[in-house]
Amino acid sequence: MNTQRGRLITLEGGDGVGKTTHIELLEAYLTEQGISVLRTREPGGTALGEALRKVLLRDELECGAETEMMVLFAARTQHLHAVLRPAIARGQWVLCDRFTDATFAYQGGGRGIPFERIARLETFVQEDFQPDLTLLLDLPIEEGLARATERGGRADRFEKQDLAFKERIRQSYLRRQRDYPGRIQRVDASGSVGEIQTILQHHIQKLLKSGTNP
Ligand code: TMP
Repeated sequence: MNTQRGRLITLEGGDGVGKTTHIELLEAYLTEQGISVLRTREPGGTALGEALRKVLLRDELECGAETEMMVLFAARTQHLHAVLRPAIARGQWVLCDRFTDATFAYQGGGRGIPFERIARLETFVQEDFQPDLTLLLDLPIEEGLARATERGGRADRFEKQDLAFKERIRQSYLRRQRDYPGRIQRVDASGSVGEIQTILQHHIQKLLKSGTNP
């Protein structure tokens, strides 16, 4: 039986920064190192979470900022208990596309909910549970927008927001990084996929080397 605790690595950033590409490459990278990996996302990662995600991203439904926050935390609670905690306890390394930093950035910075209010719900749901490493892909919003447009498809509730909303999200992520400089690593996402991936893997290598069973 594997008695070593796994790790939680989260990827964060505004829309169009390339998270999906990088999380796939990181999954392959960790697998090559012989590590058992679980890739998941928020909102989502469970049947209930994916159902709530669909509801949340539908822009025709009226939904206040605090309601939105609580739905996100409801999905997160299920994800935490049914997927994240058990996987980490089994020794798996979990790569999660967004986690609670996204709530601070989108519902806090974007929608204007005070950080302290979000932090209260965070403590209620997570107690002291936090990612081991958060990789923040940071890109000027005009560049992120250009990439999201290139990718095509219909804009969801969040992608439809204006530039000021997106700028507030970026600034809130950067504030989170300043508040948690040990856990959150900012990575400049304006380089090539190869360049960015090398930096991301470097941060993961440091985590691989840092002790085996905290
Ligand atoms: P995705 O584009 O990374 O798949 O995420 C879907 C959207 O959900 C994205 O626009 C950001 C938003 N979101 C929040 O607003 N708050 C959160 O806590 C999370 C996890 C996502």
